[in-house]
Amino acid sequence: MAIQLIVASPEPRFRDFAREQVAHISTVELVAEYEDAGGNLHVRILHDRELYPHAAVLLDISSDPEQGLSTLERLIEAAPGMYVILSDHQMSGDFLLRAMRMGSSDFLQLPLKLADFHEAMARLEQHMARLHSQERQIGKIYSFASVKGGIGATTAAINFAAICARQGKSTVLLDLDLDSGDAAAYLGLRHQYSIADAVENLDRLDQSMLEGILARDALGFSVLCAPEEIEKSRLIGEQQVRDIASILVERFDVVVVDGSRGLDGLLLSCLELSNSIFLMLTQEFPALRNAQHYLNALVRAGFGHEAVKIVVNRHAKRGALYATLEQVQQTLGMKPFWVLPNQYEEAMNAVHEARPIVMRAKSELGQSYRGFGKKLGFDGQPASAAATAGRGK
Ligand SMILES: Nc1ncnc2c1ncn2[C@@H]1O[C@H](COP(=O)(O)OP(=O)(O)O)[C@@H](O)[C@H]1O
Ligand SMILES: [Mg+2]
Repeated sequence: MAIQLIVASPEPRFRDFAREQVAHISTVELVAEYEDAGGNLHVRILHDRELYPHAAVLLDISSDPEQGLSTLERLIEAAPGMYVILSDHQMSGDFLLRAMRMGSSDFLQLPLKLADFHEAMARLEQHMARLHSQERQIGKIYSFASVKGGIGATTAAINFAAICARQGKSTVLLDLDLDSGDAAAYLGLRHQYSIADAVENLDRLDQSMLEGILARDALGFSVLCAPEEIEKSRLIGEQQVRDIASILVERFDVVVVDGSRGLDGLLLSCLELSNSIFLMLTQEFPALRNAQHYLNALVRAGFGHEAVKIVVNRHAKRGALYATLEQVQQTLGMKPFWVLPNQYEEAMNAVHEARPIVMRAKSELGQSYRGFGKKLGFDGQPASAAATAGRGK
């Protein structure tokens, strides 16, 4: 798709030059020209952006630099991230700095020169290419939280990650149970590095360093493990969790979060970025009561019902000690999204063998997990090579 450019200058020679040069660049097209730099120029440009949401602007401010800066300011205010190239005669360092702070993306010195103009267009193309690649690569975050320990969040996160990986999605499991993370142990992974190392190196965490820190499961998904030294967990705060989750979601199709910890600020800061939050509970009355508190807290924190989904684990069909599924629905005000059968032996065997249950064709629990994945659009079948080519890991 061509990059759209809007040109504004009171100088006919400026507009002619831009039009002629753009005509030679197949990747850029001129979509609007304005001959003045008047007080309402920003309104007209913003109207154009409704038609061309990614259009960049080349703005000749030489006739009235202060007016030009004011146009720039209003454009960026209304459309943060808009790519604006300012053009003027010699600009002082102070002026350049002001323009930069107001959000100008590039500068072109007057009189326009061929080489300068083409270099500016090349920078614009690079910028747009980066934007598009980010748009393509942003993945989805699925978080599993449990209303108390031992409910089954880690088991669920592992099995869901395995389903996604089997389908050819680049998948990472983030173990947020920082004090007693089980994910690596359940998968039999020996790991040297953890989220603590990622946090310590946040400012230089490029692809190769991240790959070095991640453990890799035989099923093809990566795991960002919890630290083995508990004191290292204390170094990890809410902002670091946000940063790590953002880095992962930019690089993987699917980020699965093992959120088997209390609903504290740290977990909430990760849930904020999640597309779906699975709140896991069992039918025991204390678990149901906790689930109600959790849901209320999530609503108070601004999470809508479309993001939060209830998963009942270890389904007990009957018994006075358990709430029925109808009672669960009534108490929580929403129907469980999925109900997993009670299969303790299968679940424990899977841990013992360090192999997700979903990989066992005959297991009832495995089958239920496959159904869960399918409901979310992951049928666990490898996608065609062509469809998955070109993505990260
Ligand atoms: N559907 C299930 N049926 C029976 N036992 C299960 C089931 N899912 C998990 N378990 C078992 O319950 C225990 C706690 O599971 P785990 O995933 O570690 O929970 P959490 O992460 O919420 O603390 C483990 O022993 C696990 O094998
Ligand atoms: Mg756990």
